[in-house]
Amino acid sequence: MDKKNIDWENLGFDYVATSKRYVANFRDGKWDEGILTEDSNITLNECAGVFQYAQTVFEGLKAYTTENGHIVAFRPDLNGQRMTDSAKRLEMPVFPVERFVEAVVETIRANAAYVPPFGSGATLYVRPYMFGTNPVIGVKPADEYQFRVFTTPVGPYFKGGAKPLTLCVSDFDRAAPHGTGHIKAGLNYAMSLHAIMTAHANGFDENMYLDSATRTKVEETGGANFIFITKDNTVVTPQSDTILPSITRRSLLYVAEHYLGLKVEERTVYFDEVKDFAECGLCGTAAVISPVGKIVDHGKEICFPSGVEKMGPTIQKLYDTLTGIQMGHIEAPEGWIKVI
Ligand code: PLP
Ligand code: COI
Repeated sequence: MDKKNIDWENLGFDYVATSKRYVANFRDGKWDEGILTEDSNITLNECAGVFQYAQTVFEGLKAYTTENGHIVAFRPDLNGQRMTDSAKRLEMPVFPVERFVEAVVETIRANAAYVPPFGSGATLYVRPYMFGTNPVIGVKPADEYQFRVFTTPVGPYFKGGAKPLTLCVSDFDRAAPHGTGHIKAGLNYAMSLHAIMTAHANGFDENMYLDSATRTKVEETGGANFIFITKDNTVVTPQSDTILPSITRRSLLYVAEHYLGLKVEERTVYFDEVKDFAECGLCGTAAVISPVGKIVDHGKEICFPSGVEKMGPTIQKLYDTLTGIQMGHIEAPEGWIKVI
């Protein structure tokens, strides 16, 4: 397979069109069989449910070229399951997990020339999504939907690669109690745009959101979960019903416990304890694990003793082990790697 002539090493996290994308339509209560198409445009009615009431959910995962040249995807079944949960919460039909995995595999295979080579530092980002397509003017769910998967080759999500990030505690809330913070719906991201632009304008890389009910507990950022390391090397990650259940975080907890022999705690994390942690990172498909050096709360700075200049030692070990599993030079737990 000849690879496309792309400057893989210098890719950012931007959309680059690839050859094929997958499309399936839901009509009369059922999904059609789905096809791959070269057409990257979508033509919809002006009143489509997605345009009026934001009825759309999505997923994000990556495909990698392993050291021995295989193309693999990381735990796509978990993305399929999470999309099921998201769809149900927005009264959308479920795209079955097995079909989701098949569609992801077919789309990656059709774009194999765009999967960055091993060692380039880039990956193929895969974006499955679903939206209401028929006209909806009263506030109600659509009757017809489209499920699509496209791919785009990407480099690091945060500019500057592994340089530790500076975060601010946001004055805005990301998710309401009993709301939609735990699902991957476009609406959660639309309402975070003003908060992220405000953070950037004030010189910060990202927001730390606190729980909106009490503003005492750590939630997540706009696009990643938190992971903290205590001074005695325990891995701690916030538990909350209003954050997205990150597949990377779940994988890291397993890796910490079973590969690195570390203690792990998934629990409520109060903002007051953040100053006592030794290391902090953001984890997610796009973020992988991005180190956090500093968090600023209305002028008060918290600097992590390990990780202001570069990734702290335990986060580095977690990063090396997780990416080693994804790139195929560390043996993966059963079922984690889907060979394309
Ligand atoms: N939290 C939010 C809000 C996200 O958008 C993402 C990205 O998918 C994550 C966390 C990380 O989740 P995952 O590790 O499944 O990519
Ligand atoms: C991902 O990590 O896949 C996401 O969807 C996060 C987004 C901020 C790019």
